[in-house]
Amino acid sequence: MNMVAAPAAAHVRRTVSHIALNYRNPDEGPLAARLLEVLGFSVVQDIPLPDGSRFYQLLIDATVPTRAEGIVYMSALPAADRALYAAIREGLGVGRGHEHPAVASYRSAQASDPEYGFHVGILVESLEWIEDTMAKLKALAESDRQFKGRINLLCNRSRRGSPEVDARLDASPLFGTTPRETYGRNAVQAFVETDIFAAGALGEKLVFELDYVFPGYPDNMFTKTEL
Ligand SMILES: [Fe+2]
Repeated sequence: MNMVAAPAAAHVRRTVSHIALNYRNPDEGPLAARLLEVLGFSVVQDIPLPDGSRFYQLLIDATVPTRAEGIVYMSALPAADRALYAAIREGLGVGRGHEHPAVASYRSAQASDPEYGFHVGILVESLEWIEDTMAKLKALAESDRQFKGRINLLCNRSRRGSPEVDARLDASPLFGTTPRETYGRNAVQAFVETDIFAAGALGEKLVFELDYVFPGYPDNMFTKTEL
């Protein structure tokens, strides 16, 4: 019997097109957009909605001709979600004397690792850009009326073992002093935790992650996770 080989399936390119995020308070769309602009996004649509909130489309890189990738859609946390989170908080006694012990366990797990829950990772091709951006955010967190108390910054440096990488990070104003390390080598992570956005089981915050991989190291955080 003659078997006719099936033609090899053509490669179909697939990429992540967009993510949809919610800012927590209906009147804080402009503040959420401002934070994403500091993180390198560009607002391409800003649509006022009848309820007073705003719907946004942002691009991670507005210089790239395609407009179907690297998109963030951003809207206010819907009323039904706000009601659900309120019911969860009420039911679990969040922040009260009778708070359910699961809440403290959840918070401590979140505090120990910014990658614990849902978060958004952004790959950046310049370590200096990450250092500058984090310095900008530190200044905003310390002295900007809108951002004060709303953002928390954290860094992971590469695990030691590559002399050039280690020397660069030892000299870094951002990564030189962090005791935290990445789950892998030859890369860094800078985290921006903020309660301007809602995510996670309690809808309290979201973490953005800025990543840099040192060029010339095929063995890195994104090719090999080390736990
Ligand atoms: Fe991550």
